[in-house]
Formats: sequence, C-alpha cells, structure tokens
Amino acid sequence: MKILITGGAGYIGSHTLVEVIKAGHQAVVVDSLVNGHTEAVERVSKLTGSDIHLAVGDIRDKSFLESIFTEFAPEAVIHFAGLKAVGESVENPMAYYDVNVNGSRVLLEVMQSQNCHRIVFSSSATVYGEPQYLPYDENHPVAPINPYGRTKLMVEQMLGDWSAADPERSAISLRYFNPVGAHPSGLIGEDPRGRPNNLMPFIAQVAVGTSSELQIFGGDYDTRDGTGERDYLHVVDLAKAHVLSLNALADQEGHDVINIGTGHGVTVKEMVKAFEIACAHSINTRTVARRAGDLPCFFANSERAQARLGWAAKLSLTDMCRDTWTWQSQNPSGYKAREY
Ligand code: NAD
Ligand code: WQD
Repeated sequence: MKILITGGAGYIGSHTLVEVIKAGHQAVVVDSLVNGHTEAVERVSKLTGSDIHLAVGDIRDKSFLESIFTEFAPEAVIHFAGLKAVGESVENPMAYYDVNVNGSRVLLEVMQSQNCHRIVFSSSATVYGEPQYLPYDENHPVAPINPYGRTKLMVEQMLGDWSAADPERSAISLRYFNPVGAHPSGLIGEDPRGRPNNLMPFIAQVAVGTSSELQIFGGDYDTRDGTGERDYLHVVDLAKAHVLSLNALADQEGHDVINIGTGHGVTVKEMVKAFEIACAHSINTRTVARRAGDLPCFFANSERAQARLGWAAKLSLTDMCRDTWTWQSQNPSGYKAREY
C-alpha cells in the first residue's frame, strides 16, 4: 500500500517508517521539521535500503498537502505530526489547537477531496485524565486535564464524525501510553530539542554525561516506592501496532480507539535501576517536589489491542533500556553532529 506519514521525521514516526517499509509498503513523509530531523529519515533509508521521500512542509498548508496527495496518491495516512509538550500547551494553548486540531482538520479535508479513506492517528493515554479505576480500558471516561490532552480528544472526536459521514472511511486512534527505547541498530532514537520533558530521554542524558543529575519528581506518591508509576512500552512494539492498524482499517467502518501499552506499571526508581544495569554505571538522582499536573500512577488494559489488532508488547524493560543506551551512547548529541 502507499502510505503517507505525517511527522515521520520525528521520534515515533521514524521508527514506524522502518516497520511500514519492512512490511512491504511504500511511504512518503510529510514533516515541517519543527521537532523532526532530516537525518532521521536518511538513516531510515539506510536501515531499510529504500529511498524515502521527505516532503518538508506544514500540515496546516492545504495547497502543500494537496500537491503531495496528487503526486503520491496515498491509500492511507499515519498521522503523527503535532505538538506534544504538556507544559508548553498550558503556556501557549492556541499553538496546540492550531497545529493539532486545525492541522488535523486540514489533513482530513484533503484526504476527503483526494478520496483517501483510511487513517491511523497518534492519540494518547492522556485523554483519560484522573483515573477512576486502573488499568484504564477504552471505556474509561475521558477527561483530559491539560490543553494538549484536550486537543488529542478533539481530534479523536473529529475522526469519529469524519468517518461516520462515509461508509468507505475508517479511522483508528491509538492511545499510546509511555513510548521509550530506540531502534536496536542505534541509528535512530529520540532526540528532543532542548531540555527533555520526559523521563527516559532525561535519564539517557544523565547517563551519557550531558546532564548532571536526574530530578525525581516526588518521592511520596502512594506507589511501591513512592515515585510515579507509568506503563512504558518499546517504540518498536508501538511502531508495529501502526502496521497492524493499517491492516485492520481495511475491514473496519467508522472510528475505533485502542490502547497501546504493556499493562504493567514501572516506577521512576525501577526505571533508573534498569537503566543503570544497561549502561553499567550509576545515575545521579535527587528527589525533588512533585511536578504540577502529574498523576501518581497509570497503566493500560491492552486486551482490545490483542483482540482487534493481534498486538501485544513483546519487548521488555531491559530491551527498552539497552536500546536507548545504544542510541544515546552512539549519538551523544543526537542527530545534531550530522545535520546540515
Ligand atoms: P515528535 O515531536 O518527535 O514527532 C512529531 C513530528 O511532527 C516532528 O517531526 C515534527 O517536526 C512534526 N510536526 C509538528 N508540527 C507539524 C506541522 N504543523 N506540520 C508538519 N509536521 C509537524 O513526537 P513523537 O514523540 O514522535 O510523537 C508523535 C505523535 O505521537 C504526536 O502526535 C504525539 O502527540 C503523539 N504521542 C506521543 C507520545 C510520546 O510520549 N512521545 C505519547 C502519546 C502520543
Ligand atoms: C514519567 C514519570 C514523572 C521526568 C507525558 C505526557 C503524556 C505523554 C507522555 C504524549 C512521571 C517522572 C519525569 C523527570 C521524573 N505524552 N519524571 N523526572 O508524565 O507520564 O506523560 O509524556 O501524549 O501526555 O503527560 O511522562 O516521561 O514526563 O514522566 O521524575 O525529569 O517520570 O514525574 O512520574 P508522563 P514523563
């Protein structure tokens, strides 16, 4: 199949690009490079031995998107492009409504006019908000607690309406839990611009010596060891869920939402310990106050992913830490040294 991947120069998009090509599909990437890297796409080309076209442009630019659709005629879209920093979404919510919601609206309009009927969307466990029970299943009420989460929910709702308007259309929103890790080759991985917001890239930077210590946000939660607990999953497992979703869209009508997680929580301290084993040295940590807006603990019920997609996480916490370390130690400054 011909697949258009928005945000394919980013972290999850580049890993998915590998699996999409390995599955025998053809892919074109659309990315504005606001947080993505040309080098990531070039390295995927090298990894897969295929020449991948990266069209640099913004998903809000309708005529740009139309020209890509006209030239490539994709049969499906995997839609990663968007902004994802929770704190930034509180400070500058309009940027999030513009890129995430308006950008998705423009994309769906172009898909509609070009008769492209299938889409997989990057949603997030953040749409659930305060847990009323755990693990979260897909029927858990949705009540996101920040603008970023609300934009994800709005796009899910838009996909519901878009797909209901024509029986040929189908959409899957994958609600990712906490993706971490890197391709085992060490060629591609997560390369956040500036100070990382998320735990794993921060641990990796401390391990490689770019940051001096990890601040543990809160040591007094009601969890096994007092630190926050999350459902971390390997990005390669997540990438494969997208390929399976492309297959599932073929015999689906309307919109479906599917959790993508392992079903198991890991605390911050447990993650640090696992990473210390992977990098074979200790990681400096200091416990500080809780981060505003953090939930103590959440993890997925992933039975629906198994039933609908035949997907289950296969890679372990050891794999996640080993592959992150391979990437970070081989690329201490991320893609920067190679970018032009
Ligand atoms: P990322 O920032 O690495 O990738 C997003 C890509 O989209 C980047 O390459 C960026 O340049 C591109 N982009 C942003 N705005 C664009 C625009 N207007 N037009 C074209 N391209 C644009 O992030 P990621 O971690 O790979 O996340 C991918 C998707 O998954 C995002 O939608 C994110 O919200 C979602 N998600 C991520 C996580 C996570 O923990 N990483 C969890 C749940 C959901
Ligand atoms: C994990 C745990 C922190 C950094 C966020 C978004 C969510 C989703 C994934 C996109 C928490 C602790 C972290 C640090 C720490 N993204 N921590 N020190 O908060 O689950 O989710 O990213 O959809 O929407 O909210 O992930 O990696 O930031 O934090 O102690 O320097 O690590 O308090 O317990 P989170 P995270």
